[in-house]
Amino acid sequence: MVGAPGAGKGTQAALLAERLGVPHVASGDLFRDHIRRATPLGKKVKSYLERGSLVPDDLTVHMISDRLSEKDAREGAILDGFPRTRPQAEALDKMLERRGGRVPAALYIDVDRDELIRRLSGRWLCSEASDHVYHEAARPPKVAGKCDIDGAALYQREDDQPETIRARLEQQVPPMFEVIDYYADRGVLNTVKGDRPVAEVTEELMHAIAQPAHAGKL
Ligand code: AP5
Repeated sequence: MVGAPGAGKGTQAALLAERLGVPHVASGDLFRDHIRRATPLGKKVKSYLERGSLVPDDLTVHMISDRLSEKDAREGAILDGFPRTRPQAEALDKMLERRGGRVPAALYIDVDRDELIRRLSGRWLCSEASDHVYHEAARPPKVAGKCDIDGAALYQREDDQPETIRARLEQQVPPMFEVIDYYADRGVLNTVKGDRPVAEVTEELMHAIAQPAHAGKL
């Protein structure tokens, strides 16, 4: 899944992973988990996430390679937020080639800047499961401040403050376009307009995955 911060990658990746029966591997969630556990990687990357900058490629690629080596990802995964630079995309291809796999489809969710800012500033997340994502206007929980699924408290991410949102968009959108070009050149890019209801976007993404040109092991 490719898309600017707030495009809906996490929301859609969770739904697709459930429907396809593969794990949802989100680079941002993995980094936040390392930070929470204060691992050596967590200590190295904390300041990048706080500033809204991209974590260096070598650290990111290493973390994803480890995650994709786990048993549950043997049949494939929905990658959310990785790759985010051209070198990461190249490293992913090499990583998958060694394992006899490939990227069958790159799914780009296209959303304009004003809507991205609206989405990020109104986002609330479940404190127990990062896959449970809400928005105060577009996807409100049934009970304010509580997750519909497990009743846990909702919180707002520190990098969803206005200044960090601006930094994320400025620093992360230009390299994202290099990733889009990379997959367009390889004939696996699918662009889906993301400024529509969640369910409609999901159906279009499922349709893109099912295209014969992109069929294959995910
Ligand atoms: P990460 O956690 O990946 O953050 P991000 O890319 O900024 O993406 P978000 O999680 O903010 O947004 P999303 O697209 O998942 O949208 P969501 O579904 O939540 O990365 C965090 C940090 O880690 C980065 O800043 C960087 O420092 C580092 N990092 C991560 N990966 C890296 C990499 N590969 N290389 C280097 N560094 C890396 O939706 C947003 C809101 O919109 C929600 O409230 C949701 O309810 C709402 N919404 C979703 N869809 C719709 C819709 N269709 N209509 C209305 N509202 C909607």
